Amino acid sequence: MQKKISIPLENEEFIEKNKLINTFESFFNSDFSFEFSDGQVDIFLGELDYGLFQSVANRALHDSLLNDQSKNAAKQILDSITNIKSYGLRSGKRVYAGYNAERKVQNRKVKEEKRQQFYYTKGHNFSKNNAPVPEEFENQIICGDSLEVLKKLPDNCIDIVLTSPPYNFGLDYASTQDDDHWEAYFGKLFEIFAECIRVLKYGGRAIVNVQPLFSDYIPTHHIISNFFIQQKMIWKGEILWEKNNYNCKYTAWGSWKSPSNPYLKYTWEFLEVFCKGDLKKVGAAEDADISAEDFKKWIVGKWSIAPERNMKQYDHPAMFPEEIVVRALQLFSFQGDIVLDPFNGAGTTTSVAKKINRRFLGIDISEKYCKVAIDRISNSIF
Ligand SMILES: C[S@@+](CC[C@H](N)C(=O)[O-])C[C@H]1O[C@@H](n2cnc3c(N)ncnc32)[C@H](O)[C@@H]1O
Repeated sequence: MQKKISIPLENEEFIEKNKLINTFESFFNSDFSFEFSDGQVDIFLGELDYGLFQSVANRALHDSLLNDQSKNAAKQILDSITNIKSYGLRSGKRVYAGYNAERKVQNRKVKEEKRQQFYYTKGHNFSKNNAPVPEEFENQIICGDSLEVLKKLPDNCIDIVLTSPPYNFGLDYASTQDDDHWEAYFGKLFEIFAECIRVLKYGGRAIVNVQPLFSDYIPTHHIISNFFIQQKMIWKGEILWEKNNYNCKYTAWGSWKSPSNPYLKYTWEFLEVFCKGDLKKVGAAEDADISAEDFKKWIVGKWSIAPERNMKQYDHPAMFPEEIVVRALQLFSFQGDIVLDPFNGAGTTTSVAKKINRRFLGIDISEKYCKVAIDRISNSIF
């Protein structure tokens, strides 16, 4: 099967057709060819090593042995292939025809509509009236219980929440116990997350970094995701943060090499991503600051990033690394957006937000951590 594209050509009589065919001769086979007829060139495409084709075509554009009309035709052929945005990939080649036939699901779009995307958000009553964040909360680190502080914010004034809550693992935080009964822990956490959802703008995002307590068989990432879904937030997806920390012991000797109770090992955490009301976020194109290279890499939902190494320096037991924040904010928010971290700790979110031109609001219950966060803000380099 082949895709046919026809391009009208000006001054066809001056085009050195044989020379052009010779230029691209090495590509000619049952998957690629072109022919000239009646003032146009017809291109027949099956699959093509596009990168190689592009470099041969670019060379032809500077070939002193080709006249201007031929170079122009070579450019038109290259541009028309470049402009095809819908193709499959196989063994490094772009597959322009028949790639949909290989998909297991036919009429995917129709079926998606019938099933209804994110059906669980049906009947939500999120207001579309977004508001500016009050000045006294802009670019602030506030020491307090998030539940109390967030109640002072109006609805719909935050662009993005990025946070890593206390995990209830029993860590030594400065001001809170981290070993509550699970029901009390989730009860308080969900009250705070409900406030986060309320203050998020319509179209805003909430990103929660979460590590389940595997040893206690508590699937925290599922429980938290389920909460957001029940609140009618759209589950946009999940990023697997691969920390590559393989230095954990293999297993307890009692279950070594035995199916009786093997203990699974994990080297990763999760980032659960939710949207309020709409998958699309309003923002000006010139305020997007992610490069094409980073976009291509980070859009793949598995990020390999080493854990934070400076926890001793900041005297905080559970920080995430700056790279997590850079990626999350550049992929999901615009410059100038206002970022909220209701469990700001040593201020990784707020420090990076400032560095990459976002506004911020960080809240933490510990005065000690808030001081560190404020110091990091003043040391943030523009
Ligand atoms: C996992 S740490 C966040 C670390 C942060 N991501 C960083 O990189 O520094 C969780 C933080 O939540 C704070 N915290 C716990 N309960 C809180 C509450 N009710 N309100 C505000 N902060 C709270 C703790 O003091 C702790 O610093």
